[in-house]
Amino acid sequence: MKKVMVFGSNGQLGKTIQDFINKDDFDFRFFSRSEVDITDKNSLKSAFNELGFDYCVNCAAYTNVEEAEKNIEEAFLINAEGVKNIAEVCSDRQVKLIHVSTDYVFDGEKRKPYSTFDSTNPINQYGKSKLKGELYIQELLKNYYIIRTSWLYSLYGKNFLKTIISKIENDITLNVTTQEEGTPTSCADLAMFILHIITVDDLPYGIYNFSANGSTTWFGFAQEIVRNHDTKKLDKILPTKSFKTFAKRPEYSVLELKDTEKYYGVLNSWKKSIKTIIEHYKN
Ligand SMILES: NC(=O)c1ccc[n+]([C@@H]2O[C@H](COP(=O)([O-])OP(=O)(O)OC[C@H]3O[C@@H](n4cnc5c(N)ncnc54)[C@H](OP(=O)(O)O)[C@@H]3O)[C@@H](O)[C@H]2O)c1
Repeated sequence: MKKVMVFGSNGQLGKTIQDFINKDDFDFRFFSRSEVDITDKNSLKSAFNELGFDYCVNCAAYTNVEEAEKNIEEAFLINAEGVKNIAEVCSDRQVKLIHVSTDYVFDGEKRKPYSTFDSTNPINQYGKSKLKGELYIQELLKNYYIIRTSWLYSLYGKNFLKTIISKIENDITLNVTTQEEGTPTSCADLAMFILHIITVDDLPYGIYNFSANGSTTWFGFAQEIVRNHDTKKLDKILPTKSFKTFAKRPEYSVLELKDTEKYYGVLNSWKKSIKTIIEHYKN
């Protein structure tokens, strides 16, 4: 039975993974931030005191893109130095690392889906800090999976899907930007891919893209949420171009999925995954 540790277990991805594990197939240990702070190497090492881990899944990150512009040091401390700590300990203890990264390592200028071979050029502090984390892993480890994903949503925490549902339930009209194109990704789909990597245990190491299939704008994403949740409220979602944010965001960050699908099969369309999660939401 594979023994797996997970950091950042109280985040939306960490919680979703907990929903999907079958305790007969895996031996999982989940560590929230209060149990293991990845920026504190001693705290991190203590999690490895229990021997025999096959995989470490890192879901811990500084994920507030807006705040990262102001709290640059903290974003880098967690997304770069914290990840370096994990990579060092994984290397010492020969534990394979599955680390989650982001479409925001790209600048969005390509306007065609980004493959894992395309040059990175992050345009905000969050993206820069996540890229630095990726580079540490590549420098320190051979046995790693870096999964770049985009626009995550789930039933947990604070995310776009939950925000839109809560606003329309309160009859609030929303202006949503049409300026960025990307792909909403369900944490449930990503959790299944992570479990697949652990189960098959022989996927080639390296960088993988993971999102749903297809692309849309945040406006299209919001419309699809409302269409599934309460179609009568579709008129509450209005398109806007001028949506001011503190952090610059890539205007295009669709990920090329061919290589991932070669190993994993065809990925769900973004609309199908939204439908699935909203059905859960309603039950
Ligand atoms: N959300 C997205 O749209 C998106 C898009 C692309 C990629 N990603 C990547 O996907 C991964 C999962 O994201 P998510 O949406 O699940 O994030 P999330 O919900 O914000 O969860 C991140 C978790 O990391 C924990 N954490 C923060 N600093 C830590 C530290 N120093 N030590 C240990 N834990 C720490 C947080 O704890 P507290 O809650 O206590 O702060 C939180 O539980 C991240 O690597 C993120 O960069 C996310």
